[in-house]
Amino acid sequence: MAANKLHIEMFFDPDSSTFSYVVADNSSGSAAVIDPVLNYDAAAGSVSTADADKMLAYIAANNLRVEWILETHAHADHLSAAHYLHAKTGAPVAIGEGIKKVQQTFKLVFNLGDDELQAKGDYFDKLFADNESFRIGNLTAQVINTPGHTNDSVSYLIEGNLFVGDSLFMPDAGTARCDFPGGDAHILYRSIQRIYQLPDATQIYMCHDYQPNGRQLKYQTSVAEQKAQNIHVNAGTAEQEFVQKREARDKTLAVPRLIYPSVQVNIRAGQLPKAESNGVSYIKIPLKQH
Ligand SMILES: [Fe+2]
Repeated sequence: MAANKLHIEMFFDPDSSTFSYVVADNSSGSAAVIDPVLNYDAAAGSVSTADADKMLAYIAANNLRVEWILETHAHADHLSAAHYLHAKTGAPVAIGEGIKKVQQTFKLVFNLGDDELQAKGDYFDKLFADNESFRIGNLTAQVINTPGHTNDSVSYLIEGNLFVGDSLFMPDAGTARCDFPGGDAHILYRSIQRIYQLPDATQIYMCHDYQPNGRQLKYQTSVAEQKAQNIHVNAGTAEQEFVQKREARDKTLAVPRLIYPSVQVNIRAGQLPKAESNGVSYIKIPLKQH
């Protein structure tokens, strides 16, 4: 999307159906990267920066200066390239302050010691509070807490453009699941009401699209379209109706393919677990014995 003031460039990872963005201030060349993907082949245990390198190539070709690397939440379906891009650009990695709760939860799940994870927002350079504002060059950005899918979910409102993470999908796909640790359908409903109070013309950018019924890929909609057409929560949907629908659907969903590797890396802002004495990093999978 091109506008006078800013340019939004979308990048898509087909393996995890994830959208990442570069948001650039046309007047200054300052930019933010949102939800970058680190490519990961689970069977091979191989990590690649192919997608992040495409973003870096775009950034270089357009003479942009990355000022922020923004995460909408600790994702459970893909690994984040935030740490890699931080190393390449020096830009701070930011997320909502709810990440502390997510880190605390998964510190226990993965039995991590204090030397590996303090669960105080460590690994991130900046923890945003609800309603906090920041600048991307001459653009104004605002953080809107939108928990429910996860404790740490935030949306970034940048000059009338809202990057919602997983709090909303395209209208024909509804909303993301609320059954991860810390997820809560009641809380997601209230977060969506906050989004629906924004002006109707607010443009909403997805983090995922799974192309329901084989339709073409879509990554952009508006508050007006969501309020009119979202299949899980439109302007007239009551909280209890949404919660029942969401919780019934969540019971049918499989565990995400990359949840363990993703969460282990993403609670560390995209940094791989500390290498062992042979120089190799390992992903843990907690086994549940029945
Ligand atoms: Fe997510």
